[in-house]
Amino acid sequence: MGMLEGKRGLVTGAGSGLGRETCILAAREGARVGVLDIDPEAAEGTASAVREAGGEAIVCEVDVADASGMESSVARVVECFGGLDWASNNAAGGAGDFKLLHEIDDRTWSRTIDVCLKGVFHGIKYQVPAMLASGGGSIINISSASQFKGEAFLGAYVAAKGGVDALTKTGAAEYSARGIRVNSVAPGGFETPSLIRYFEKFPEFRDRTVAQHAMRRVGRPGEVAEAVIWLASERSSFVTGACLQCDGGVLVNSHML
Ligand SMILES: NC(=O)c1ccc[n+]([C@@H]2O[C@H](COP(=O)([O-])OP(=O)(O)OC[C@H]3O[C@@H](n4cnc5c(N)ncnc54)[C@H](O)[C@@H]3O)[C@@H](O)[C@H]2O)c1
Repeated sequence: MGMLEGKRGLVTGAGSGLGRETCILAAREGARVGVLDIDPEAAEGTASAVREAGGEAIVCEVDVADASGMESSVARVVECFGGLDWASNNAAGGAGDFKLLHEIDDRTWSRTIDVCLKGVFHGIKYQVPAMLASGGGSIINISSASQFKGEAFLGAYVAAKGGVDALTKTGAAEYSARGIRVNSVAPGGFETPSLIRYFEKFPEFRDRTVAQHAMRRVGRPGEVAEAVIWLASERSSFVTGACLQCDGGVLVNSHML
């Protein structure tokens, strides 16, 4: 029996990278999955991959920054699957070109916060009532290892991700007694389309990025999916308010080695 047998879930930003792998693994573990993304073609690609893996998927086109879009997407998942047991708030975007803090324009700052932080808030806001009505659940927000130490040129993004971890702990404080666990996963560098694009633009950063990880490699998207699915499942039944670093040792790396 799969870890998520019969469980009804959704993933935001599911059209690519870590979100797509999470949907595919969830399907292999027996879940039905709502594939939410701003890019409907990308979401359809993920839904096809889920069906190929023997799972059931529905696609919802949504901008997570838009509260009403998130509300109707969650409602649609609940209507199609009959409830909601788990959700991963994974979508990120809007960070724009790399800029120092004093160079970031207001529009880029606001869009990054709206997608990466407010999008997670919108997720929690509409997922919680659906999970309470379903008898409990598990929410997994995707933050970033970069928020623990700050990251040059990514000011708005790391600020948003720090907010995601604060929101996660607050969600755990508010809902754990009512049967909803709220946790986050903080990835290090993962070879997803966004990181591949970054390496294409700045080839010299590949070796430096690898060297930042104590394991001396970047992650495979399926490795984050494993962490998310574990947190979504009952196997992590006493874990709430945690930030699970899935980062190949970025935060324990030593310059001595
Ligand atoms: N890849 C990494 O190295 C890495 C490292 C740390 C954290 N993360 C985090 O992991 C998550 C997934 O990253 P990824 O590398 O797979 O990204 P990705 O760029 O490959 O995929 C992001 C997906 O989100 C969708 N999206 C963007 N804006 C959206 C919006 N407003 N509403 C709905 N969907 C939207 C995109 O269409 C895309 O399908 C993100 O939260 C990211 O910050 C990734």
